[in-house]
Amino acid sequence: MSKRRRIYEGKAKILYEGPEPGTLVQHFKDDATAFNAKKHEVIDGKGVLNNRISEYLFVRLGEIGIPTHFIKRLNMREQLIKEVEIIPIEVVVRNVAAGSIAKRLGLEEGTPLPRSIVEFYFKEDKLDDPMVSEEHITAFGWAHPPELDEMTAMALRINDYMSGLFTGIGIKLVDFKIEFGRLVENDMVRIVLADEISPDSCRLWDADTDKKLDKDRFRRDMGGLVEAYSEVARRLGILMENEPPSDKSGPRLVSSNED
Ligand code: TMP
Repeated sequence: MSKRRRIYEGKAKILYEGPEPGTLVQHFKDDATAFNAKKHEVIDGKGVLNNRISEYLFVRLGEIGIPTHFIKRLNMREQLIKEVEIIPIEVVVRNVAAGSIAKRLGLEEGTPLPRSIVEFYFKEDKLDDPMVSEEHITAFGWAHPPELDEMTAMALRINDYMSGLFTGIGIKLVDFKIEFGRLVENDMVRIVLADEISPDSCRLWDADTDKKLDKDRFRRDMGGLVEAYSEVARRLGILMENEPPSDKSGPRLVSSNED
């Protein structure tokens, strides 16, 4: 496996050439970064948890008809995915004011928004991923108008589904970021959900206490990141009840194959 060709290395994941043409292996690292990697740390066990949580969410979303790049989980840190052309737009959906919208508009964190709000950011590290409008996206050709409509509709469906899913396990889905890709199949191009959905890319607050169960624990130096991600996994039914959140060998997950 170590001889696999590395296609791309990002801040939290590596993509390797897959076993079949048109497939890739997505490897979840333990690296945590924030503020465009100005802050960086390696957090033992984070990659294993994100691999499993993202698998769970992509499978559930696939079941309700959201097309995704996910094929199957291969082991503790890796999943097999379909190769797609990533659209260079981060789609953020917000239900409650937090993070950058709270700062930009002077809203108190935790204030429910009048309705779910969809925002777009241009994926360009050199520019710190600036917020852009639909006008920018279509004028510069990052996505065509029908693609953008499809991404927006899918993002709102994903928000509805995930809000319900998390509410059911006592978690508030405050906001999240997703990415889409173009998948070429039988000469047709389809937009599919790509990348990952994990506590790295969502804000998840305990419904009773507002305790943060996401990457803000790292961004804001609160500590307890692995314990928080383990709590999310446990409530989703991925980590066994009564299992210690983590130990030196990292969290143990239900029905994992190997590492
Ligand atoms: P923001 O409030 O910092 O704009 O973040 C909104 C959501 O997007 C939050 O759930 C965290 C997620 N996010 C990412 O996944 N990657 C990023 O680079 C940023 C800035 C935010």
